[in-house]
Amino acid sequence: MPTLTTPAEIERAAALLRAGALVAFPTETVYGLGADASNPEAVARIFAAKGRPQDHPLIVHLASVELLPQWAKAFPPAAQKLAAAFWPGPLTLILERSGGVPDCVTGGQDSVGVRIPGHPVALALLRAFSGDAGARRYCGVAAPSANRFGRVSPTTAAHVRDELGDAVAGVLDGGECDVGIESTIVDVSRGRAVLLRPGQITPAQIAAVIGAEVELPDADAPRVPGALASHYAPRTPLALVPAAELAAQLAALRGKRVAVLSRAEAPGGLKDVSWQSAPRAVAGYAHELYASLRRLDALDCVQILVETPPGTPEWQGVNDRLNRAASTR
Ligand code: TXA
Ligand code: MG
Repeated sequence: MPTLTTPAEIERAAALLRAGALVAFPTETVYGLGADASNPEAVARIFAAKGRPQDHPLIVHLASVELLPQWAKAFPPAAQKLAAAFWPGPLTLILERSGGVPDCVTGGQDSVGVRIPGHPVALALLRAFSGDAGARRYCGVAAPSANRFGRVSPTTAAHVRDELGDAVAGVLDGGECDVGIESTIVDVSRGRAVLLRPGQITPAQIAAVIGAEVELPDADAPRVPGALASHYAPRTPLALVPAAELAAQLAALRGKRVAVLSRAEAPGGLKDVSWQSAPRAVAGYAHELYASLRRLDALDCVQILVETPPGTPEWQGVNDRLNRAASTR
């Protein structure tokens, strides 16, 4: 993965974080909007920049698993196994929060979300920020996706600048995010493993590591405000359309400007249709998804039609994001 960021830029970004400023940085999933998680004033700037409701908890990004006891009261066996298998990587664990975690990070909940990201620039930033971990308690960077609330997450530094402009003190450029959709979130704070947000890492992979099934959220699962039905959404109305119905939908919209995202090549003879071909395999599809939605959204079409991807388990993360993007606001 190309690193477009110099060590001096990493040091400067870490100093900005220590001073309470916001720094956007690449992770392997999407770009994050980071602030010192131990500094409530800095964390408040995240909510202001994003226009995000205050009760939506943030994920704390850590340089290493040694920093975990600062943030989490317990590290149960299932969490240890998942951390060993998938960190650094696109997995967020929900754990019982420790006493000193600011309420603004957890949205007042008794749990905390933590993740060690796999992107080299993210890790370099987190290490520079944490320095000698013993010297500072609570070394972590709270970071939601670096988009305005409800919008499509950024997967390039240019997307971050388009979304947030001057609201952020620095943007580290790490190129295109490899995974392209946000981390898988698993709650392991209550003696079971519960999938709160699907991502690249599938429930089957998690079950294989912990030796137990992954459950779906029940009534007393932690709130996941990012799981709002309408989220990750372009401004242009978006509809999911089975491949077999696409031609009929296009015919019904004839004369209007329409954008299509499809795993197939564009058929000949289409007028007023901007057709974007997507990779057939899930990894490539997820990698390009948000950039494609941004591109199609910028065309000022009346409608974006997305050909429904396969319904197999590895597509769950992609289908989750598309269903939210399609949900009417
Ligand atoms: O891939 C990712 O996870 C990216 C990169 C930047 O790390 N971050 C990200 O953050 O997607 P955000 O804020 O856009 O989504 C975090 C999700 C939200 O849905 C939030 O509700 C949930 O994590 N979350 C965080 N802490 C939680 C907690 N203690 N309990 C339940 N859900 C939590
Ligand atoms: Mg987000």
